[in-house]
Amino acid sequence: MQEQEKIIKMFDDIAPTYDKANRILSFGIDIKWRKKGCQKALACFEDKNLELQIADIACGTGDLILTWQDKARQLGQKIQTIIGVDPSEKMLELAQKKIENAKFIKASATKLPFDDRQMDILSISYGIRNVLERKRAWQEFARVLRKDGILLVLEFTKPSDKGILRSLSNFYLHTILPKIGGFISKNKAAYEYLPSSIEAFITKDDFIKELDEAGFDIVFYDSFSFGISSMFVAKKR
Ligand SMILES: C[S@@+](CC[C@H](N)C(=O)[O-])C[C@H]1O[C@@H](n2cnc3c(N)ncnc32)[C@H](O)[C@@H]1O
Repeated sequence: MQEQEKIIKMFDDIAPTYDKANRILSFGIDIKWRKKGCQKALACFEDKNLELQIADIACGTGDLILTWQDKARQLGQKIQTIIGVDPSEKMLELAQKKIENAKFIKASATKLPFDDRQMDILSISYGIRNVLERKRAWQEFARVLRKDGILLVLEFTKPSDKGILRSLSNFYLHTILPKIGGFISKNKAAYEYLPSSIEAFITKDDFIKELDEAGFDIVFYDSFSFGISSMFVAKKR
C-alpha cells in the first residue's frame, strides 16, 4: 500500500472514536479556534448579501462545517452551498449522519471535484499535514478559489523555539497523547503518528512561504497551544 493510502486507512480505522478522542486530547481548545478561524475568514466578505460557496477539505467528521454554519448564522451571512471533502469513507459516513444539510464528497485535496474559481472559501483543519503532495494541494486550492477568495488553514506546525514550553508540549505530544488516544481508539500507532507527523512537518515561516508561492497573501495569522497549533487566513491573489 502507498504511504498516502496507509494514512487514509488509518483515519478510516480511528473514525468511530475520532470526535471523542479529539475533544479529550485538545481539552476542547480546538472549538474556540475553529470559531475564531471562521469568524476571521467571514469578516473578509463585506457584502453580506453574497451567497457563499464553501468547501471544507479533509473534513473528517465535519466539525468545521458545523462551525461555518453557526458563525455565518450569527454574523448574518448566507451560505449557498457547503461541501465537505475527504478521502476517508468512514469519516464521510459519520459526517453525513451528523450534518444533514451539507453535501459530502470522497476526494483528495490534490484533485478536487470543483470547477476553476468556483469557491469563495476553502478551509482545511488539521488536514494538510496528512497530504503528502502538499504543494499540489496548494495549487489545487488556488485553482478552485476565485480571486480574493479566502483560504482558512488550522494546523499543527513544528515549533521553531527550544524553550521550556517546547519541552512541555513535547512531553504531552510524545508521552501523554499516544497513551490517551491509543486507549480511546484502541489504535496506539495512529496517535504515535500524530507527534511524529508534527515533528516532520514544516514551521510557520515555511508555511507562509509555501502559501505565497502558491498565490496567496496572508491576511491573518495566530498561534496557540504553546505555538504548536497555527491559524492562517490567506487571500487568493
Ligand atoms: C486529523 S483529521 C482532521 C479532520 C477535520 N478536518 C477536523 O478538523 O477534525 C485529518 C483528515 O485528513 C484526511 N486526509 C488524509 N489524507 C488526505 C488527502 N490526501 N486529502 C484530503 N484529506 C485527507 C483524513 O481522512 C482525515 O479525515
